[in-house]
Amino acid sequence: MQTVLITGGAGFIGQNLVHAWRAARPEDRLVVVDALTYAANLRSLEPLIAEGTITFVDGDIRNMTLLQRLFDEHRFLRVVHLAAESHVDRSIDDPGVFLQTNVLGTFTLLKTALDAWRAASLLDRARLLHVSTDEVYGSLDATDRAFSERSPYRPNSPYAASKAASDHIVRAYVMTYGLPALITNCSNNYGPFQHPEKLIPLMIIHALEGKALPIYGDGSNVRDWLHVSDHCAALMKVIDGGRTGETYNIGGDSERSNLEVVNLICEIIDCAFAADSTLGSRFPSCPAATGRSCRSLVSFVEDRPGHDHRYAVDISKLTVALGHTTTTPFEDGLTQTVHWYLQQENWWRDVTSGAYRAWIDRNYRRRGKVGESQPVAEKVD
Ligand code: NAD
Ligand code: TYD
Repeated sequence: MQTVLITGGAGFIGQNLVHAWRAARPEDRLVVVDALTYAANLRSLEPLIAEGTITFVDGDIRNMTLLQRLFDEHRFLRVVHLAAESHVDRSIDDPGVFLQTNVLGTFTLLKTALDAWRAASLLDRARLLHVSTDEVYGSLDATDRAFSERSPYRPNSPYAASKAASDHIVRAYVMTYGLPALITNCSNNYGPFQHPEKLIPLMIIHALEGKALPIYGDGSNVRDWLHVSDHCAALMKVIDGGRTGETYNIGGDSERSNLEVVNLICEIIDCAFAADSTLGSRFPSCPAATGRSCRSLVSFVEDRPGHDHRYAVDISKLTVALGHTTTTPFEDGLTQTVHWYLQQENWWRDVTSGAYRAWIDRNYRRRGKVGESQPVAEKVD
């Protein structure tokens, strides 16, 4: 049995990791710390919090006092660091908070972990996994080789630069102080519980609501798509079996252009409506409700500034060292994901309408300012 801290555990990957970890290692005690930003969602964790299966702490990773108390109380042997500002478009509009959370927040966590593990003589047993992105490596041309762990860092967006900086601080803590940390750099995740601002959920929801599908530029930008369940499986392998001080790339072996992804989403929705007549009455504004293709909604819009052309990830190190394989083919994962959003209409409508934000403020937030976190969130009502 181990006590595990998951920072950012109320985010997209965090929620999926909590459920995956619970399923794989039910004996472990999980503590989630999350500042409940706009990106967080506790709906799927709420039953676990209510029954005491996991401990949820409404707190900010920049709050060293809070982190010190948590390390003292729980004597974590594993830390998975996911908390971050994660959306590139937001980093273009407002980079400051990305530096605050992704750089200073990571530094605060590293310093706290090092101090606590030194004081408790746990440096030889404990491990911290810093979850980062392939975007730190910059952009590839069509014929370039995929990013390896030795690719130079060339971040192009404020988000990527903030994650690159955090990776460097982790490395410095390993090299200078002997912190037992590892880094993973993964490609674009998709799957259940992803916030509707990201490409795949945004396109699914817009199609269902009959809104334009805004493709930046000409849609030729390429991403490597990794199903979140494959990502979580890899993270659990790396934190236990990886070598401290090492970096592991995680990818889905599924390069697709944005236009291909959007066209596939349209095709999956068109087929779902053709197979299930109730969908037409649930989503009357969707073109598929009247027998037209969702592709009629595709709209090419102004490109994102500094838009990276292509990401591709070489995962041979992970495969050779830890035997990891990707198990979800992209077309299957995308079909499952579209059907998840079809089934979880309440979930995404609560997020997109702002109703969920009001619920979370009512039930979990007891403070207005960052840093005044309570040790364990309890329902106020
Ligand atoms: P997300 O935006 O869905 O979730 C981030 C979570 O962190 C949210 O719950 C948010 O409330 C929390 N958070 C933000 N600032 C915080 C702070 N100061 N203190 C405590 N909690 C805070 O992100 P995600 O998609 O789940 O990504 C998780 C991690 O994986 C991030 O570090 C991200 O950079 C990395 N990553 C994600 C992807 C992807 O495709 N989603 C790809 C590569 C890397
Ligand atoms: P995104 O989900 O924001 O992830 P990232 O920028 O981290 O890769 O975007 C994925 C790709 O989709 C990226 O090339 C930008 C593009 N995109 C659009 O074309 N339209 C959109 O509305 C969004 C959100 C993204």
